[in-house]
Amino acid sequence: MTGEVVLKAEGLVKRYGSVTAINGADFDLRAGEVLAVIGDNGAGKSSLIKALCGALIPDEGSIWLDGQPVRFHSPLDARNAGIETVYQTLAVAPAMDIAGNLFLGRERRRPGLLGTVFRTLDHKGMRAEAQRQLDALGVATVQNIGQLVETLSGGQRQAVAVARAAMFARKLVIMDEPTAALGVRESGMVLDLIRRIRDNGLPVVLISHNMPQVFEIADRIHVHRLGRRVAVVQPADHAMNEVVSLMTGALRLAEDGSLVDQTAELNNNRSAG
Ligand SMILES: Nc1ncnc2c1ncn2[C@@H]1O[C@H](COP(=O)(O)OP(=O)(O)O)[C@@H](O)[C@H]1O
Ligand SMILES: [Mg+2]
Repeated sequence: MTGEVVLKAEGLVKRYGSVTAINGADFDLRAGEVLAVIGDNGAGKSSLIKALCGALIPDEGSIWLDGQPVRFHSPLDARNAGIETVYQTLAVAPAMDIAGNLFLGRERRRPGLLGTVFRTLDHKGMRAEAQRQLDALGVATVQNIGQLVETLSGGQRQAVAVARAAMFARKLVIMDEPTAALGVRESGMVLDLIRRIRDNGLPVVLISHNMPQVFEIADRIHVHRLGRRVAVVQPADHAMNEVVSLMTGALRLAEDGSLVDQTAELNNNRSAG
């Protein structure tokens, strides 16, 4: 079902004074998959993702993109390498229209009369391309590409942010809790969008708190706890409560793939020692 490793990290560490946000974290994302990253509040999910998209520079560890070692010093470095990120907060410019948002910071210009000087924005071309992208992603609820984003619902705004990422990503898309601020129906729309991005050929990293959503959409689940990856499981192999127990530390995934009750293990060690 899933293929080659697209993005990989080993031994990432990030300290903020006495707080260790990332504590020896490993990571891998494969072609063709939606990888969910789950973990309790403060487990270090956002920090991990920031290290992968250039928003923070890890103190230790290595990252590879398509097998090549990479070092991102800024989000722009990661974007130039083909990694697009959608943040939790709705990252759109409300006073601009949909097409303007999709091309924000990457506007297209028409060839100018004086070569590259005085080149005017190619509004027509951008609108046509924006419409094509939204159609390809099945964002059918948006009627008019010239509609101001402030007149859109929360879900539609997030769809614009996600479409923008999908449009410019060449390698993968990372999303940090993209449905956190949305209702059930709107979340469903964004999940459909994520599936389509994957099916169109870009793997997706999805950070989420929402277990039913994760079980609905993820091909694999990366479980993050106390700053590092403690397990990778497939939703088909486990019940939701088992995965929650991995997240809280009540259960541990043994090397043979079996689940070990950590509380029983601790008690046994105590009585043995
Ligand atoms: N910029 C920062 N300065 C200090 N501590 C931070 C910073 N960013 C994150 N942390 C701390 O690192 C830990 C992991 O945070 P975070 O990556 O946001 O976790 P999650 O996204 O899983 O909730 C938390 O204890 C958090 O308080
Ligand atoms: Mg977070």
